[in-house]
Amino acid sequence: MSEMKTYDIITVPDPVLRQTAQPVSRVDDAVRKQMDRMLQTMYDAPGIGLAANQVNLLNRVLVMDLSKRTEGSPAAPIFMANPEIIWESEEISVLEEGCLSIPGQAADVERPAIVRVKYLGYDGKEAELSAEGLLSHCVQHEIDHLNGVLFVDYLSRLKRSMILKRAEKIKKQQVL
Ligand code: NI
Repeated sequence: MSEMKTYDIITVPDPVLRQTAQPVSRVDDAVRKQMDRMLQTMYDAPGIGLAANQVNLLNRVLVMDLSKRTEGSPAAPIFMANPEIIWESEEISVLEEGCLSIPGQAADVERPAIVRVKYLGYDGKEAELSAEGLLSHCVQHEIDHLNGVLFVDYLSRLKRSMILKRAEKIKKQQVL
């Protein structure tokens, strides 16, 4: 197998994380190549979700794969372009979230428990996904990225600034 190129993941306080990504006009070979590279980048990190902003690209593309949380289970990548939440439950779910762009940090985040998402798949065709549990948190977290929103935005100002400060400190230590 040939070695696939990967992207560098940007971290806070990079301003690209605060920008809004633009829709793709269609899923063509260039977008598919980006999806493949993003998936490999996410696997290498390792993480379970990655949005275009996090690799310094500003189109509405994300990848996810929750299978790596279970040892030995086969890869189950999900690729989305132009994802849109078309329904969300009133019921709320609270789960601990982390983010590859906020190294070493995690916090409980409150979100709608179930969402229905419309998107363009790897084949460019329109598809829908109903998500609950971790997948629901993950897809909402990644769509947030495309809108310049980070999980810390759901926390109190004090908690947010503490987490961001700690993440930047960790990043500096990694660079040194
Ligand atoms: Ni994230």
